[in-house]
Amino acid sequence: MTAPLPLISLRSVSKTYRTDGVAVAAVRNVSFDIAQGEIVAVMGPSGSGKSTLMNMIGLLDLPSEGAVYLEGANVAELSEDRRSLLRARSIGFVFQSYNLLARHNAIENVALPLVYCGVGRKARLARAETSLQAVGMLHRAHHFPRQLSGGEQQRVAIARALIASPLIVLADEPTGALDSRTGAEILALFAALNRDGQTIVMITHDPGIATQCRRTIRLHDGELVSDETLFQLLPKRSAVS
Ligand SMILES: Nc1ncnc2c1ncn2[C@@H]1O[C@H](COP(=O)(O)OP(=O)(O)O)[C@@H](O)[C@H]1O
Ligand SMILES: [Mg+2]
Repeated sequence: MTAPLPLISLRSVSKTYRTDGVAVAAVRNVSFDIAQGEIVAVMGPSGSGKSTLMNMIGLLDLPSEGAVYLEGANVAELSEDRRSLLRARSIGFVFQSYNLLARHNAIENVALPLVYCGVGRKARLARAETSLQAVGMLHRAHHFPRQLSGGEQQRVAIARALIASPLIVLADEPTGALDSRTGAEILALFAALNRDGQTIVMITHDPGIATQCRRTIRLHDGELVSDETLFQLLPKRSAVS
C-alpha cells in the first residue's frame, strides 16, 4: 500500500525579499510535510519568517527557490488564475486583526469568499448560516463587526475561513489580539474543528497555545530549527494469554 500524498509539501523552500538592492533572506531552505487532519503550531521570534512561510503555504506568494506542493502539484507551475482559484477553494485564512469588512454584517462577511467560487447569493447565505452555526455565532448573523467583541469577530473570521470547506486553515497569530481567556476559547474552537478532521496550521507566539497542538515547527532567522510531534502514550494493553 502506498502512503497517501501529504496535503502540503515544502521542499528546500527559500524566500528572499529584494528591496532597493537590499536582500532579506526571510525563509531559508525549509522542508516539511503536512498530512490531512494535522494541527500544527508554527513558532519563532518576531521576524523569523513565520508569516512569509504562511504566505507560501497559502499560495499568496511563491518561493524564490525550492517548491511548494499542494496535493502533489507544484503550485509554481499553475497559472496565476488557477492558483487564485485553488487558493479560494482550498485555503481558509485567519488573521490576528480579524480583517472583517466593517460595512458588512457577520453573515455577509462569512459568505464573501464564495463569490470567488462562483456560488449564487442564496446558496452563499445558506452556507454562511451553517458556518456561523459551527463557530457558535449564528445568533449574531446580522450584527456588524463594531457591534462584536474581539473574540466574537474572530469567530466570524473563522466561519469565513471555513465557508468553502478548505483543505487547510491557516491562522497567523489568531489569538494575538485577545485576552488570555478569550484566546483559550478560540484555541478550543480550533481544537474542536481539528477533531472533526479540519487540517490547521497556526502561527503563535504563545507557548501555552503551541503545547495544545500535537506538532510544533520552530523557526529562527528563517531556518527550521525543530519539528516535533508529541506522541500520546497508548493505553497499556493487558497481556494476551
Ligand atoms: N514584503 C517584504 N519585503 C521585504 N522584507 C520583508 C517583507 N515581508 C517580510 N520581510 C522581512 O522578512 C523577515 C521575516 O518576516 P516575517 O515573515 O513577517 O516574520 P514573522 O512573521 O516571523 O514576524 C523580516 O526580516 C521581515 O522584515
Ligand atoms: Mg508574522
